[in-house]
Amino acid sequence: MKRKIIITADGSTTIHLPDWNEQYHSKHGAIQEAQHVFIKNGLALFSKKKLKVLEIGFGTGLNSFITFLEAPRMDLEIDYVGVEAYPVSINEIENLNYVSELNAEKYKEVFVKMHQHKWEAKVEISPEFNLTKRKQFFSDITDSNTFDLIYYDAFGARVQPELWTENLFKKMFEALKLGGVLVTYSAKGSVRRAMQAVGFFVERLPGPPGKREMLRAIKK
Ligand SMILES: C[S@@+](CC[C@H](N)C(=O)[O-])C[C@H]1O[C@@H](n2cnc3c(N)ncnc32)[C@H](O)[C@@H]1O
Repeated sequence: MKRKIIITADGSTTIHLPDWNEQYHSKHGAIQEAQHVFIKNGLALFSKKKLKVLEIGFGTGLNSFITFLEAPRMDLEIDYVGVEAYPVSINEIENLNYVSELNAEKYKEVFVKMHQHKWEAKVEISPEFNLTKRKQFFSDITDSNTFDLIYYDAFGARVQPELWTENLFKKMFEALKLGGVLVTYSAKGSVRRAMQAVGFFVERLPGPPGKREMLRAIKK
């Protein structure tokens, strides 16, 4: 499939897939979306020090990098697991501008290391942040009672409807600890109902710039 790096409305880059007319992030602002959906409405809920985070769709590593930057600011120690079946190429990574847009030049090497280190191995990126990348299909996830927080960042239901079904959300529910939280940019009614059907308590929250709403699901 063809791929093209584009600039979103907040100046940060994303990868565009012309055949699907789909992006890795919101065209209204990749960094703004990540900060609103995953950090402000996800990570910031937690006050306990040690946290296990699962990302559904590691992709460009933007969410992982922002979470790494936030961990010391929020006084968190994070064990981060990113699942991804189709890794982004190093050539593409070099053309993404997240390091400069986040004013994180001193962590340039960290962003590269997140992509270069091997799959299926836990790596200490900093004292506050361990990263494990798993090259895996989402449908093969079998974790149980493991994670505090899930960043659900799959491509949209329009192009990959099979990733927004009860089947997948059942796996997410199982992967979370009691009290665990899943956040996603999607606000579709069918997605919310699939989450509720597997047992989640679901909240509709104001969305990031350009989107009216997003969803947060809690394993109560
Ligand atoms: C919306 S993009 C991820 C964005 C990512 N969180 C980021 O910040 O760049 C969705 C990701 O899911 C991956 N993906 C799509 N289908 C998948 C599947 N069935 N199993 C695992 N990964 C998949 C894609 O390769 C892509 O990287």
